[in-house]
Amino acid sequence: MSLSIRRWLEHGLVMVIGLLLAWPVAVSFSVPALLLQGPCALVLSRFRRHPWSASLLHLVALPLLWVALMLEITPEWYLALAVLTFAISGNAWRERVPLFLSTKATLSQLQHIVPEKARLLDLGCGTGTVLFGLARLRPDLVLTGVENSMIPYLIARIRACFVRNVQVKFANLWQTSLQEADIVYCYLSPEPMPKVWQQFCQQAPAHGQLISNTFTIPGQPAQQSFPINDRIGSCLYVWQKPKDRA
Ligand SMILES: C[S@@+](CC[C@H](N)C(=O)[O-])C[C@H]1O[C@@H](n2cnc3c(N)ncnc32)[C@H](O)[C@@H]1O
Repeated sequence: MSLSIRRWLEHGLVMVIGLLLAWPVAVSFSVPALLLQGPCALVLSRFRRHPWSASLLHLVALPLLWVALMLEITPEWYLALAVLTFAISGNAWRERVPLFLSTKATLSQLQHIVPEKARLLDLGCGTGTVLFGLARLRPDLVLTGVENSMIPYLIARIRACFVRNVQVKFANLWQTSLQEADIVYCYLSPEPMPKVWQQFCQQAPAHGQLISNTFTIPGQPAQQSFPINDRIGSCLYVWQKPKDRA
């Protein structure tokens, strides 16, 4: 069974077991079971060491579902919401890479790592935080981003109309050539990193560098790392293209 199906099942079970635990107490004290299910699911979720965001979602999921049912919202709205969510962060589902953005502190550090006049490619550029932040801090750079989620792409594309040295393409990063990139930047998730390394080794020029925000490559220690003092504990990792792959 795939990891993501197992995770979905586990979250489903936390909700159901939360309800089963809440039921006897709710019946004994004549309290709505829905009110107790959230705290029970929260405790179970903490016990399973889920991220806090998931645990808090367990706290409110069933009551929210109940409110939504009570409001009798027409199904078209749910469909519209699903389409909008997909257009913003479809890659959370497709690639296990949600949309979150590099912090200002990361950009402040990144500007000192990137060599002069480098061509930088941001794999999965989101709304263009890195591209436009660097364009301002380092006007000497040539910056390109690829993105295949519609709404972040459109935002980055519109922003690019006003900045000379930034180009944004609607493309899948796996179908993007790295041959022209002196620096490949990415901020993705642990999941795609082994494949990113493979692509980098196969396609980047001999002098190419890979900079990953936060996520490392299993079995490939970075040559340099720059811990960032921001609220999410970012760290920039830098790899040179291996000589035997040049
Ligand atoms: C965590 S965000 C990082 C955004 C930006 N690079 C930054 O640092 O602020 C990762 C982005 O990669 C995009 N992405 C994930 N997989 C992709 C793929 N196969 N092709 C293109 N973009 C992808 C996601 O849609 C998301 O916008």
